[in-house]
Amino acid sequence: STERTLVLVKPDGVARGLTGAILARIEAKGYTLTGLKLVDADRAMLEQHYEEHVGKPFYEPLVEFMLSGPIVAATVEGQGVIAGFRSLAGATDPTTAAPGTIRGDFGRDWGLKVQQNLVHGSDSPESAERELGIWFG
Ligand code: CMP
Repeated sequence: STERTLVLVKPDGVARGLTGAILARIEAKGYTLTGLKLVDADRAMLEQHYEEHVGKPFYEPLVEFMLSGPIVAATVEGQGVIAGFRSLAGATDPTTAAPGTIRGDFGRDWGLKVQQNLVHGSDSPESAERELGIWFG
């Protein structure tokens, strides 16, 4: 069945001017953008979005990073889009994410306490609905 997912172009992707290239890959794969906006996140939104990571060593650097600049939030639809976008995005660590993926082609380790890995994609239908509520209300 048709799914929808939340995609975020994180502050590093927006600041580096990669928004268009990232959205182009999503569209070229055949998925449909059904919502799109530029968001200045606040701490309360990020605490909800990253609730599963509270207490991990990278949590506070992650929140600070996500507060460091505007984020592009998108609703993306298509058959199998949740797994499909995560495949396009590549592995979490941009150093070893496969070439051909967004993180593998455009990302690297910048020596910081957080992995600046350009994009987020929901990991399940339940996460997608929860996260879309946070970012699109
Ligand atoms: P994402 O999967 O979108 O959501 C959690 C984020 O935390 C992840 O992207 C990375 O940006 C960051 N992250 C995950 N694991 C680590 C880690 N071990 N060290 C630093 N940052 C991490």
